[in-house]
Amino acid sequence: MKETDKAVGIIGLGSYVPDKIVTNCDLEKTVATSDQWIVERTGIKERHIAEAGMTTSDMAARAAKEALKKAGVSAEEIDLIIVATVTPDMLFPSTSCLVQDKIKAVNAAAFDLAAGCSGFVYGLVTGSQFIKAGLYKKILVIGAETLSRIVDWTDRGTCILFGDGAGAAVLSELSPGFGLLGSELGADGSGGEFLKVSAGGSAMPASQETIDTRQHFLSMHGNEVFRFATKIMGEAANRALEAAGLTSEDVDCFVPHQANIRIIQSSARRLKIPMEKVFVNVEKYGNTSAASIPIAMEEAEREGRIKDGDVVVLVGFGAGLTWASCVLKWGKGE
Ligand code: COA
Repeated sequence: MKETDKAVGIIGLGSYVPDKIVTNCDLEKTVATSDQWIVERTGIKERHIAEAGMTTSDMAARAAKEALKKAGVSAEEIDLIIVATVTPDMLFPSTSCLVQDKIKAVNAAAFDLAAGCSGFVYGLVTGSQFIKAGLYKKILVIGAETLSRIVDWTDRGTCILFGDGAGAAVLSELSPGFGLLGSELGADGSGGEFLKVSAGGSAMPASQETIDTRQHFLSMHGNEVFRFATKIMGEAANRALEAAGLTSEDVDCFVPHQANIRIIQSSARRLKIPMEKVFVNVEKYGNTSAASIPIAMEEAEREGRIKDGDVVVLVGFGAGLTWASCVLKWGKGE
């Protein structure tokens, strides 16, 4: 999708990860795995895990406050809050409503968006349209997850992969030429079986049996997700670049969903983007699903890896199956 009319983009980023760190060596004590296996197959060394009592909305609110501060925007100025998450505090009210109350964004509408690990980019593209249409001026898009609460800590195939955290972005109108230049949102529902939490919804309400059979935990076909991810990351990024009238040679910083270093390296290869231009922090946080891209962007900007005028490409993939990519011209352009 080529972005036209008003220029819309990010004017402030924030992130939050819980203090508690669980290393691969810690996991060696609870499941049959090894630090070496996890590092070789995934690139992950440690992940941050929320203490009991800390919720998705708590982390989302902290990230949001930092993003507002950096943007120089007050909570009252926010017109809409979109929280991308697959680990809401509860089925309802939405996590975005809980965040609205926690940060006192009293003038904001609020809704959640469930697109798995693609959720933040889905939210970014969706939120931007409200500003382009003239309906809203300032929007908070947050990716926040407490995956540790839905991970089966007895399943070595999945428990090593995930972590908790939140990242937030304030969207606003920018000077022409800046912000969102192109994007692609996609889905293939036929792959829904590959990554899911089966129980707790209308198809399989909570019962003693669903608990006994561990169906409230995340289940995954790792190989199928891996195959899908390596193919779609490059394709989706290329189509967003094409929509923006750019090629991968124009990219200054590629910020992919942080799921697995091998998936990131493979998509960079397919895109012909050298690894020096790829931002990677999967070793520190694991896969934080919808939070991974905003956490990575915030860190990339703080470290000077993303600068004003840079062409930045974001691409995510995840449960659904879904994918989402976008091209941003960084900075406000004043
Ligand atoms: N420690 C040690 N051995 C493990 C292990 C662990 N944590 N997890 C799995 N294994 C074993 C398997 O049981 C298997 O053993 P077997 O050959 O005796 O059956 C062997 O390692 C190879 O398993 P396999 O699943 O083929 O490994 P892989 O190289 O495909 O890596 C993933 C597994 C999960 C790391 C990889 O498939 C992956 O990253 N997939 C994408 C997942 C993802 O990104 N999900 C989130 C999407 S948003």
